[in-house]
Amino acid sequence: METIIGEPLGASLADPGPLRCPGCHGALRGTDDGFDCDEGCGASLPIRDGVLVVSGAPTDDNQIAADFYNSKLWPKVRFWESLFWALNGGERRAREVVLRRLPQTPGLRLLDVAIGDGVYTSWLPADWSIVGIDISMTQLAACRRRNSGRDLRLILGEAEDLPFHDHEFDAVLSNGGFNHFNDPEAALREMARVAKPGAPVVIADEMPDFLSFGHRLGFPKLDRWIASKLMSMGDDFAGLVERHRNIDIAEIGRRVLDNSRYEVIWRRGGGGYLMFGAAPADEPVRATSDAPRAAALVGA
Ligand SMILES: C[S@@+](CC[C@H](N)C(=O)[O-])C[C@H]1O[C@@H](n2cnc3c(N)ncnc32)[C@H](O)[C@@H]1O
Ligand SMILES: [Zn+2]
Repeated sequence: METIIGEPLGASLADPGPLRCPGCHGALRGTDDGFDCDEGCGASLPIRDGVLVVSGAPTDDNQIAADFYNSKLWPKVRFWESLFWALNGGERRAREVVLRRLPQTPGLRLLDVAIGDGVYTSWLPADWSIVGIDISMTQLAACRRRNSGRDLRLILGEAEDLPFHDHEFDAVLSNGGFNHFNDPEAALREMARVAKPGAPVVIADEMPDFLSFGHRLGFPKLDRWIASKLMSMGDDFAGLVERHRNIDIAEIGRRVLDNSRYEVIWRRGGGGYLMFGAAPADEPVRATSDAPRAAALVGA
C-alpha cells in the first residue's frame, strides 16, 4: 500500500490498494489528484490536504457527530476524557487494554474506523500499514499532522459504508466512536466484510449509558444537561448520546462476529467496554492464508 502522508501527492497514489468505488463498488484508477471510478459510474474522489474524500455530507446522526468533532466543543470535552483516562490508570495504560487485542503480526494491514486525531497510531508497530477513516476533516487533519512519515492512508468517509473491497484487512480496530455511529450494527457488518475471514475486529468505547446519575434519580434530563452544558457537548451531540444509551453492544457483536466476546474495561468514571471477535467467512471465501485467526485474540 502506498503512503499518502508525508509524501508528495502524485505517482505514489496510482495504486488504489484496498479502495473500491463508493458508487458502483467497482475498481478505481489513480488520477493526478485522487481516484476516479474505472467502471464508468462517474464517481471521482479528490484528495484534499492529504485526505481522500470519499463521502460528502454524512447521513442522519453522523452529521451531528461530524459537526461536533469539527467544532471547538470536542477540545473542551477532551478535558473530561483526560480525567477519564486518569481515573483508569492513565491514557497509555488504558488504551493498551484495547490495542493489545490486535495481533502483533509484522507488516499487518490495519483498518482503524473513526481514527480521529490518531493519538495512539504512533504506538502501533512501525511496519504496519494503516488505513484510517473518519467523518471529521478536522480530526483527520490533526491525525495527519501527528503521524507524518507513517504508512498511513486517511479517508473522509462513514463507518457504515466503507469504501473497500471485501476481505482486505488483517485486523480492524474502532475505538471511541462506535456508540454514536448512526448505525453501529451496519458499521460492524462493514468492518467484518472488509476484514479477511477470521481476522480480528476490535471495538471499544465508553459505556453507552455512562451518564446515569440523572436516570437513576428519575431525572433523565439531568444527564442530558450534564452532557450538553457541564461537559460542553452541545445540545445536538448530547441528544445523540441520550438516543444511543440503550444500544446492546454485546448483542450486536453476537449478531455480526464469530466467537464474539464482551468485557467491561475502564471501570471508573462511567466505565467502558471491549467487544471483539472474528470476521466470519462468507461464500465464496477468498484465499486467506495470511489472515491472523481469531485464536490470535484469545489469551492476548
Ligand atoms: C472520541 S473520537 C475517537 C478517536 C480515536 N479513535 C481515539 O480513540 O482517540 C470519535 C471519532 O469517531 C468519528 N466518527 C463518529 N461517527 C463516525 C462514523 N459514522 N464513521 C466514521 N467516523 C465516525 C468522529 O469524527 C471522531 O473522530
Ligand atoms: Zn463506480
